[in-house]
Amino acid sequence: MHTPLVARCLRGLESLVAAEVVRSGLGAVTDLRHREVHFRAPRSAPPLRTADDVFLLAARRPDVGAARQAPRELTALAALTDLDGLLPLRHTATAPTAVDVSASFLGRRAFTRYDAEDAVGEALAERLGVPYHSRRTGAAPPPGSCGWRLTLDGTRATLMLRVDDRPLHRRSYKRHTLPGTLHPPLAAAMAALADIGPGQSVLDPCCGAGTLLIEGALARPDARFQGFDLSSEAVGAARANAGGLPVSVRRGDAGRLPLPDGAADRVLCNPPWGAQVPAGGLLAGAPDRWWTEVRRVLAPDGAAVLLLPGRDDLAAAIRHGFTPVHTQRLRLSGAQPFLVRLTSADSHRGRR
Ligand SMILES: C[S@@+](CC[C@H](N)C(=O)[O-])C[C@H]1O[C@@H](n2cnc3c(N)ncnc32)[C@H](O)[C@@H]1O
Repeated sequence: MHTPLVARCLRGLESLVAAEVVRSGLGAVTDLRHREVHFRAPRSAPPLRTADDVFLLAARRPDVGAARQAPRELTALAALTDLDGLLPLRHTATAPTAVDVSASFLGRRAFTRYDAEDAVGEALAERLGVPYHSRRTGAAPPPGSCGWRLTLDGTRATLMLRVDDRPLHRRSYKRHTLPGTLHPPLAAAMAALADIGPGQSVLDPCCGAGTLLIEGALARPDARFQGFDLSSEAVGAARANAGGLPVSVRRGDAGRLPLPDGAADRVLCNPPWGAQVPAGGLLAGAPDRWWTEVRRVLAPDGAAVLLLPGRDDLAAAIRHGFTPVHTQRLRLSGAQPFLVRLTSADSHRGRR
């Protein structure tokens, strides 16, 4: 039997999540929607690294519209759900102790997400004979609660049940975190886009807590990963997070890397010129220096996968001799950065 599943992800990562589903060989993609990849898998769910979370599709009905009373109609979703068929497919053997629901919708509505959550959550809790935990207060759901997701996209209202106990985007390795640290599924998507080969050398010149290097190493443990950061706190965090993975991290300035020319087959980085972390050391006020160093240490046939805040950064990449071979706009914490894969312009000239 093939189970219908829904992977939720960052806006802009849908196609990379779909590619991971296909690559995993565990499922067939059936639909791509706003922040969602729908697929069918023979087992309950593959452990996707690029998705924020994976849900079992529970029930669907037409969107209820924008009226204040509309959430009442959402209780039908709870009634339609095959609880006996669905609950055993979760990756947990214990019976739920409570119900919690997280809702989101597209478009303006005369009700809040909490109104929608409460309507469905109370109906589900009643059917399951357990308490309902409302998210209105901001308190975390109790241990053992089963998490439901409700989306209203203007066409359809969809109810889903989380497969795992906790969201997939929470990684157990990430015990130490820093301002500006990357969302792990995005780091996993960047590592996948880098297409790292066995034995290759992968560099993050501003590695922060090490998320990119760690996601790369988890996907490709037979490659070599090294990171640098100006901050000793970041170096400590990255080392602790990486544990026993093949990741080495040193204190260093990305404006003058202690590496020979062409030493890196792949560069993975979200450089420090976003809103949260300022560039320091030799990069303060001199972002061109970052590009010059990355260009120097990247092997002629190498590739850099970067998260860049805006179009100006793409222009800077081209000015420094890179060719963007993939650009994807994302939505991330209110910003719209570019996810790019760059190769050296020389490597293209050589192919002609
Ligand atoms: C956006 S954060 C990187 C976050 C990282 N990808 C993670 O997941 O935690 C940018 C990092 O650049 C570092 N940084 C700033 N200036 C630097 C420089 N000149 N050389 C090396 N690292 C620098 C900061 O200390 C910060 O850790």
